[in-house]
Amino acid sequence: MKTTEETTTAGGGDVRLTGISKTYGDFTAVHPLDLTVPQGSFFALLGASGCGKTTTLRMIAGLEEPTSGTVHLGDQDVTALPPYKRPVNTVFQSYALFPHLDIYENVAFGLRRRGIKSVKKQVEEMLELVQLGEQARKKPHQLSGGQQQRVAVARALINHPKVLLLDEPLGALDLKLRRQMQLELKRIQTEVGITFVHVTHDQEEAMTMADCVAVMNAGRVEQLGTPADLYENPRTTFVANFLGTSNFIEAEVDATSGDDIVLKAGGGKLVLHRSRASAPATTGGKILAGVRPEKISLTHADDAGRIPEGRNRITGRITESSFIGVSTQFVVDSPVCSDFEVYVQNIDRDPRLAPGAEVVLHWNPAHTFGLDAAQDIDAGVETVEEEVV
Ligand SMILES: Nc1ncnc2c1ncn2[C@@H]1O[C@H](COP(=O)(O)OP(=O)(O)O)[C@@H](O)[C@H]1O
Ligand SMILES: [Mg+2]
Repeated sequence: MKTTEETTTAGGGDVRLTGISKTYGDFTAVHPLDLTVPQGSFFALLGASGCGKTTTLRMIAGLEEPTSGTVHLGDQDVTALPPYKRPVNTVFQSYALFPHLDIYENVAFGLRRRGIKSVKKQVEEMLELVQLGEQARKKPHQLSGGQQQRVAVARALINHPKVLLLDEPLGALDLKLRRQMQLELKRIQTEVGITFVHVTHDQEEAMTMADCVAVMNAGRVEQLGTPADLYENPRTTFVANFLGTSNFIEAEVDATSGDDIVLKAGGGKLVLHRSRASAPATTGGKILAGVRPEKISLTHADDAGRIPEGRNRITGRITESSFIGVSTQFVVDSPVCSDFEVYVQNIDRDPRLAPGAEVVLHWNPAHTFGLDAAQDIDAGVETVEEEVV
């Protein structure tokens, strides 16, 4: 959808935060932060409850005054502007529609407030965009939660902001509806092409929707990247654990040869490609070797001879196995890691792979990533699961 307003607001839809921070008394909610959100991108701020996401978003909106730093929208320094003078709109978890107005009037509200008389065309366009044309004359309470949230999005977008800020907009919806709305919001963003900054604590949500994700931890951006890049190349244990599951082996650098780093762990050797090590590898030094559960194959110890050469391998014993249809998730106790997680796709199931079985875990060395050993292996673990919204 392209409208005239949009063409006039085109350009300058990027958000640039420079040294922005927020302290409350002696508590720092957001440490000085530099961040550029490219125009037209779907950008997610991802992190556990309390890490500073809402505070960051509110500083962009002008609802919170930064302790230091500046906010630019395009070329314009908006740091000193009040919220209503900034070309941004915010959608919150509690969509707060006007209960006495029908859907049409809820969407028309921003235009009417600006004294615009002929709202019909734009309101209809917006209702069509969020696929609620049929519901125009209903009151908010007659709609589902997902539909109400779409009204809230339409009500914000009709003002043609350069940037739409969304603060856990799907948090109140049940899981199935949330999945649908994720795709729906992504479609809307693609269609209108404006910058979306989406705050969520749900890693799957961020990965599904965003072009670029900033993973926040305790008031800092820990890593920034595309979903695939963050997943495949986490640079800290926090990111490795917060986005999906990672297995870590505390290893010692045994030797380096060409592009390979040979690691020693629990009496065995593992290979790490140098390009995948985000910490310096010096002989005798420590490194954390990480590998994702779905990258690992599981072979019964009796068949160990059939494992191809050149794979990283460790031995262990299965302690748990959960069949979940598309895959079986195993927990394996090994000398180098007491709770190794392995996901085996459900193609040909080996009935011997059951708790108690002695197994060999093996994977392509290219799937090993190396992290600085001087960090907490469990940083970021289960933060998502523990959270109650
Ligand atoms: N007005 C305030 N006064 C004091 N502390 C605050 C205030 N607003 C937020 N905080 C604190 O700042 C931290 C970050 O909050 P917030 O940005 O809301 O986190 P998130 O949105 O990631 O859950 C939290 O520890 C919160 O308690
Ligand atoms: Mg919040």
